[in-house]
Amino acid sequence: MQKKQAPTLISAFEQEVYEGLTAFPKHLSSKYFYDEIGDKLFQDIMAMPEYYLTDSEFDILEANKVEIAELFKKDGQPFSIFELGAGDGKKTKILLKYFAENQICFDYRPIDISQNALDQLETSITKEIPQVEINTLQGTYFETLRDISEVNGRRKVILFLGSNMGNLLHPQAVEFLKNMRESINENDLIFMGLDQKKNPQTVLDAYNDKTGITEAFNKNILTRINTELGGNFNVDRFLHWEVYDPETGTAKSYLVSKESQVVRIESLDLEVRLNAWETIHTEISQKYDDTVVAWLANQANLKIVTYFTDDKQWFKNYVLKK
Ligand code: AVI
Repeated sequence: MQKKQAPTLISAFEQEVYEGLTAFPKHLSSKYFYDEIGDKLFQDIMAMPEYYLTDSEFDILEANKVEIAELFKKDGQPFSIFELGAGDGKKTKILLKYFAENQICFDYRPIDISQNALDQLETSITKEIPQVEINTLQGTYFETLRDISEVNGRRKVILFLGSNMGNLLHPQAVEFLKNMRESINENDLIFMGLDQKKNPQTVLDAYNDKTGITEAFNKNILTRINTELGGNFNVDRFLHWEVYDPETGTAKSYLVSKESQVVRIESLDLEVRLNAWETIHTEISQKYDDTVVAWLANQANLKIVTYFTDDKQWFKNYVLKK
């Protein structure tokens, strides 16, 4: 690889792509999977039979909405639901509908890195559950947690569904939980969905569908580099590769270069040389058990109040507080 003096890099995307593709081993961050195409591909993933996470969490929310409502509304005071990484809100709507139908007083503040996802969510909520007061907020988790901490008044419930925390390594997850703790008060709650360790084959299948949707999702990061940073990646020269370590519970996604190649990225003035079978690590999807969740909560000085799970115990929604 020919390394050049890094030009003045403006966006975080440019900076991270530069750092990741000049590092050894190479890596890119999964947070850049999500643009309009990536959002759509992720919705398609959530609808795949292999991607059990969505159905499991859907079942948990549906089966426990009455009890969840009791926990959230506590003494009957109005509360604000902040949802981090709201996406298409398919699962959250179960709760929102139930709360609205039962005259529970709340407002809904979905937060997502993708403005496109937020726009679609606002349109669909306004149409399907017009009683819900909705205010969207665009930004990264860390930026928006700062904003949340500054909102005073109503009690806060922070929703973090879909095992989104699983895309963070444990040290980052602890940092993130500490930030969450900082942004809430004694009476507030965190409601977090975390995918559980299970038969390794079930996990692998969820990230390795035969239809190639996950492959396209993984490769979308290269397409984004092409369109937004003037790259010339040929995505057909890469394999989507998934591994799962049942000991650590970590699923990892890679893009593997099928041949020796040189890729040029115009806006970074960078030439990236990849050897045949060299990897670019793109995502981790951590799977948890109660011991690990208790350890993470403890590291962040958070208490686990209770949890809800599905019949197969494939997924759990934990309730945490300060
Ligand atoms: C958003 N996140 C929790 C998903 C996951 O399971 O790690 C993203 C995903 N990657 C591949 N398939 C789904």
